[in-house]
Amino acid sequence: MIVTQENENIVWHPHAIARADREKQHGHQGVVLWFTGLSGSGKSTVAGALEQALHAHGVSTYLLDGDNVRHGLCRDLGFTENDRRENIRRVGEVAKLMVDAGLVVLTAFISPHRAERQMVRDMLAAGQFIEVFVDTPLEICEVRDPKGLYKKARSGELKNFTGIDSVYESPQAADIHLNGEQLVTNLIEQLLDVLRHRVIINS
Ligand code: ADX
Repeated sequence: MIVTQENENIVWHPHAIARADREKQHGHQGVVLWFTGLSGSGKSTVAGALEQALHAHGVSTYLLDGDNVRHGLCRDLGFTENDRRENIRRVGEVAKLMVDAGLVVLTAFISPHRAERQMVRDMLAAGQFIEVFVDTPLEICEVRDPKGLYKKARSGELKNFTGIDSVYESPQAADIHLNGEQLVTNLIEQLLDVLRHRVIINS
């Protein structure tokens, strides 16, 4: 159950060091690159390769990955609609803190619902949320099946699997739309071009 509390006895404490100070120290602004797509679409692979490239450029990064976060912060959550919503809400709040820390945050979550992706966008200031759609057809993801989960879902052993018996709502206007069938190196070049254009990296 999600309990939302607006508590009048809890007052926001403004601290002396602000996001702008931290961003100045990093030499770049804090943003979230929010990768969304089916299981097996390549989100984690592309986000991981981009993080390596950014790291090499001296950018301060952090990668939040669905499978990893579900071992800790979200270990109590499953794959019902409510649990997925709560998963994304928590990750959104963590990403928001990391943006406040001045980091370039990369997230790799299926995040199947438009409403939840919009919820995270709304948590952040304009321009801080960059939605990256890793657009790989279901048939390709199913052939790749890196964890054997599509096979389990097709046999009925695994329920509520995204794309099989649980919905995936494609972004209608992603900030960056990647063709997930292309080589990872091509996709990284496309992403770096956008980040240069937005002056998140300089060279
Ligand atoms: S999300 O829908 O809540 O955003 P998230 O990205 O955290 O999902 O986790 C997805 C990963 O969990 C998949 O890559 C897959 O390895 C695993 N998984 C296990 N069960 C399911 C399921 N029913 N649907 C989708 N992914 C699942």
